[in-house]
Amino acid sequence: MLILGIESSCDETGVALVDASGGRTPRLLGDALHSQIEMHRAFGGVVPELASRDHIRRVLPLTDAALAQAGVPLSAVDAVAYTRGPGLAGALLVGSGVACALGFALGKPVIGVHHLEGHLLSPFLSADPPEFPFVALLVSGGHSQLMRVDGVGRYTLLGETIDDAAGEAFDKSAKLLGLGYPGGPALARLALQGDPLAYKFPRPLLHSGDLDFSFAGLKTAVLTQVKRLAHARLDGPATLHLADPLTLQQKADVAASVQAAIVEVLVRKSMAAVRQTGLRRLVVAGGVGANTQLREQLGSACARAGVRVHYPELHLCTDNGAMIALAGGMRVQAGLVDWSLAGAAGYSFDVKPRWPLAELAPPAVLV
Ligand code: KG4
Ligand code: ZN
Repeated sequence: MLILGIESSCDETGVALVDASGGRTPRLLGDALHSQIEMHRAFGGVVPELASRDHIRRVLPLTDAALAQAGVPLSAVDAVAYTRGPGLAGALLVGSGVACALGFALGKPVIGVHHLEGHLLSPFLSADPPEFPFVALLVSGGHSQLMRVDGVGRYTLLGETIDDAAGEAFDKSAKLLGLGYPGGPALARLALQGDPLAYKFPRPLLHSGDLDFSFAGLKTAVLTQVKRLAHARLDGPATLHLADPLTLQQKADVAASVQAAIVEVLVRKSMAAVRQTGLRRLVVAGGVGANTQLREQLGSACARAGVRVHYPELHLCTDNGAMIALAGGMRVQAGLVDWSLAGAAGYSFDVKPRWPLAELAPPAVLV
């Protein structure tokens, strides 16, 4: 059972081929990715129209590359999965349009995948795949959520951010330090040279008693600290120049301190979710899951609590086609794909730019 997966929800075009035969753990056969980071860097963030146009340019050559890597002809593909949402509408339409066209040409079904389902199942492609049930910490540029995962399509929201996502907190703090876009990896690199105890940034909602997050206050705290250090005038808007007067060491100390605040909240809430559910497995997924500090601290907290922690392979933490092909394949294996949709009615260019994961109610088993 060969599933082609297409990801185009934001600023990465990814196409991959996964073998999801029988009851076996799916295997990645081919994986091609193009990141638009360089193109958007000049604008300090993702420009949706440019993103859509670039997806159009990249998606077919990447499809050829993924199939060539797998050594498999297009005609052998059994189903085409694509990111149906959430994400940028125009960008999603590219993946959905191409998936529907390929599905129609092949006479095979298309599977609309939830982007976050792709992230949270992505550790199943790792050398140490998890087993259901588990708690999932989903931390990306747009989402911070704790979920209880009982199986494919069986997701219960335990807590989520009430404002900014963890990745956004990394990105906005990095911007205030003049680190450009995307800020997370750059801030983490700079933090290596800094002192995490140099500045005491807030740990929002740490003691709220629930599993929700809030990161919006952090960027204000970072801005205040940067201004204080730069003796900047308090009446100007936050600009990239604000951090210029800071020494490299000051910037590194701010980076390390803000990273420590974000990581502490994520670790404490994840461990609270594990305690609350009584589950012994934690899966960490999404771009922020690549953060080394987060991995180290979750690793020790989980070891102390006797909890197994699973991550996707590092290159599958950020957006990619493999996780979409995988989620499509696992949906097929779970009997959640309607094969009768391999007809004209099934190719409906359907995207959902806003789509809460909890809305993925367990559908009726169709085959
Ligand atoms: O999952 P992802 O690729 O895209 C979304 O679905 O949002 O996540 C991107 C986010 C960005 O905010 C980026 O700054 C953050 O993940 N990120 C990191 C690291 N690598 C990526 N944040 C902290 N440390 C990292 N090493
Ligand atoms: Zn993502």
